[in-house]
Amino acid sequence: MKITLSKELKQKPDSSKLGFGKYFTDHMLVMDYENNAWKEPEIVPYAPFQIAPAMNILHYGQGIFEGAKAYKNSEGKITVFRIDDNFKRMNKSAQRMCMPTFDAEVVKNALFELIKIEKDWIPTQPGTALYIRPTLIASEEVLGVHASKKYKFFIILSPVGSYYAHGLTPTKILVEEHFVRASIGGTGEAKCMGNYAASLLGGELANSKGYDQALWLDGNEHKYVEEVGSMNMFFVIGDEVVTPALVGSILDGITRRSCIEVLKKYGYKVSERRISMDEVVEAYEKGQLKESFGSGTAAVVSPVGLITYRGKDMIINDGKMGEITSFLYDRITGIQSERYEDEFGWVTEIK
Ligand code: COI
Repeated sequence: MKITLSKELKQKPDSSKLGFGKYFTDHMLVMDYENNAWKEPEIVPYAPFQIAPAMNILHYGQGIFEGAKAYKNSEGKITVFRIDDNFKRMNKSAQRMCMPTFDAEVVKNALFELIKIEKDWIPTQPGTALYIRPTLIASEEVLGVHASKKYKFFIILSPVGSYYAHGLTPTKILVEEHFVRASIGGTGEAKCMGNYAASLLGGELANSKGYDQALWLDGNEHKYVEEVGSMNMFFVIGDEVVTPALVGSILDGITRRSCIEVLKKYGYKVSERRISMDEVVEAYEKGQLKESFGSGTAAVVSPVGLITYRGKDMIINDGKMGEITSFLYDRITGIQSERYEDEFGWVTEIK
């Protein structure tokens, strides 16, 4: 693999003030596709791309991405969490968006080289990580609406702290009833850029009213819970932990999967099924809605303290992080940071 190192290295940020996605490391991985084939991946200095104004991605949004994390322990051991699942999902998104799939092993090995070069950028404070953002965009210069014949794949790295500025303080969520993020048969299940663009207006409206996120309902009946754009959703109702089933319009979250697997292993009753807002409200009114939380690579496991639906405020667990949410946060971050043994085989060491 060709590696071109940067002549000038940037100053690294203070790891107690990282926030999310504000700093980028010195190098990135790029890999181009043309004439029906992928070229070799390359590591180059992090720098702007030359973008032609007619480039397909700018007009028709044929683009997908992923989010993963790398960690470094106090002895300097570097690990990544469930990275194979990310590349598998990315190839699935590529198929849905009419983009070429890639050899996940080739890309993974190139990513590991990049992470080794950037090892000094991996923060070690609890709650921090090196966020990995693989991205694939259509790069052909042509205005006809068809699948691009050229693509650019790249991976950038960003040292991150908490996704929410308020850290683990429970989030406030407004249920969005008018706009929809995705519907069955659409692209909701793919990690494509358009899903995030579609979620911005609802998200901004929720933010303007003091909420952290909008909660999306199904596109057909506007009745069933889907996800929160940056997180999958969970509810603890009585002794059952419920998360919306993957019906085709919801992201198959890797942290969602991890939560389900940990909960099952530790004897909790977990259901992946449709859950309507009527059921959530009824459970709340009966005192059965014990906890709610979101899951995502960026957000990890994030407690939900308030859900507002049709003007009704549901304050969950007195607005505090609940027992199951704390258990999951501790277990998942513990496996990622090696505080707990990796009994699921999710962690890969980069040597
Ligand atoms: C992630 O959790 O990694 C995501 O991609 C969600 C968001 C930051 C866009």
